[in-house]
Amino acid sequence: MRFRLGLLGHGTVGAAFHELLEDRAEAVEATVGMRPELSGVLTRSRGDFADLLERSDLIVELIGGLEPAREYLLAALRAGKHAVTANKQVLSQHGEELYEAAREAGVQLRFEAAVGGVVPVIRVIHETLAAAHIERVHGIVNGTTNFILSEMTRTGASYDDALADAQRLGYAEADPSEDVNGRDAAAKMAIVARLAFGAAVSLDDVPYEGIERVTGEDIEYARELGLALKLVGSAERVGGGLAVRVYPAFLYGEHPLAAVNGSFNAVTIESPAITEITLSGPGAGGPQTASAVLGDVISAMIPPATLPPPAIALPLVTDVESAFYMHVEVADRPGVLAQVAEILGLQGVSVKSVVQRGLGDNARLVMVMHPVLESRFDAAAGLIGRLDFVRSQPRVIRVIEETF
Ligand code: HSE
Repeated sequence: MRFRLGLLGHGTVGAAFHELLEDRAEAVEATVGMRPELSGVLTRSRGDFADLLERSDLIVELIGGLEPAREYLLAALRAGKHAVTANKQVLSQHGEELYEAAREAGVQLRFEAAVGGVVPVIRVIHETLAAAHIERVHGIVNGTTNFILSEMTRTGASYDDALADAQRLGYAEADPSEDVNGRDAAAKMAIVARLAFGAAVSLDDVPYEGIERVTGEDIEYARELGLALKLVGSAERVGGGLAVRVYPAFLYGEHPLAAVNGSFNAVTIESPAITEITLSGPGAGGPQTASAVLGDVISAMIPPATLPPPAIALPLVTDVESAFYMHVEVADRPGVLAQVAEILGLQGVSVKSVVQRGLGDNARLVMVMHPVLESRFDAAAGLIGRLDFVRSQPRVIRVIEETF
C-alpha cells in the first residue's frame, strides 16, 4: 500500500528530503506496512497545489516563509490531510490558527524539524514530558550562530569568515540576518514555549538580541575565564507569568549547553519532578533536517501497534574497535617501560599518551591507546599482566572517543 506525500518546496531541505525518501522508503514500508511515495513536487515556479493536494495523503511543507505556506497548510488540514512542516516562521506567527485547523479536522500537524533540526525537542516536550510541569527551557536553537561563535572561539576566525562557512554548509537561512540577529532563535523559542507552557506565545512576544555586537575580544575573555559564549533562548515561568527571550550569554563550563559546539543545537528542560533533561544534536543542515521531517511523516502514517518482526538478520559483532585506558603498577627499573611498549607494539596497539608516576621502588603507568580491536588489546594486556615486574594487574577501561 502506498502513502502519498505532496512535497512543497525543493530547496536545501526539500531536496534532501526527496533524496532521503528514495533511500529509506523500503525500510519505512518494512516497519509501518505502507510505502511513502511522492505524489508530486510543488515549487514557487511550478506545480498546481489543488491538484497535488487531491493526490496526497499528507503534505510536506518545506517552502518556508509565511505565504503561501500558511495558506497551503490550512488548505491541507481543512481538507483532512495530515501536514508536516519545518516552517518556524509560520508556526511562530500563525500557530494557533494552524493548530486549531488540525484539531477540528482530526488530522496531525507535525513540526519536529521546525526547532532544533533533528534533535527531538518537540516530541520530547509535547509527548514524553506531557505530564511534567516544566519550569524553564534553555536552548541553543540556532545552528548558524552557534557555528560562528564556536569557530571564532576555536580557530580565531573572523565573524565574516565564519558566517560565510555556515552559509556554504547550508546552515544559514536564505537571509542570514534572521540567524545572526536572533529572530530565527526567537521564532523557535516561541514554538517551544507554546508547547512547554501551554500558553499562546507568538514571535512578537519574544524580545531578541543577536550576536552582531559580539567582538573577538569578548570571545577571548570567555575562553580565558573558562566561560562559553552562546546565543541562548530562554523560556521560563517568572512569578505568575512567562518570560521568553533570546540573548548572547556566558555559560560556565559545567553548564550542559556550554559544550555544545558547531552547528549543534541543544535544549535543557527543567522541571522539579524530573530535574533536568538535555537533548543535543545537529540543529541545521539539509540531510539532518530532512531526517526529522521523514520521522514526522512516519509518525503520521499508521504506527504499528507492536514491534514488527526483525526485517533483516544482522550478525552480532563482538570484537569491536575501541580506545583504551590502562593503569598498571610496575617495578621502577630500566627496560620496564620499553618491554610494556614492545608488547603493545607487537599486538598493533598504538599508544596515544603515557603518564608515569614514581611510587618509591615502583612506578604507576597510566596509558591511553588509540582505537584498536578489543582482541588485540586484551592479548597485549594479558601478556603485560604476566611480566615478572608487574606489581598490580593492569586495570583497563574503555575510552569513548567522539566519532564525528
Ligand atoms: N538557519 C537555521 C539555523 C536552520 O542556523 O539554525 C535551522 O532552522
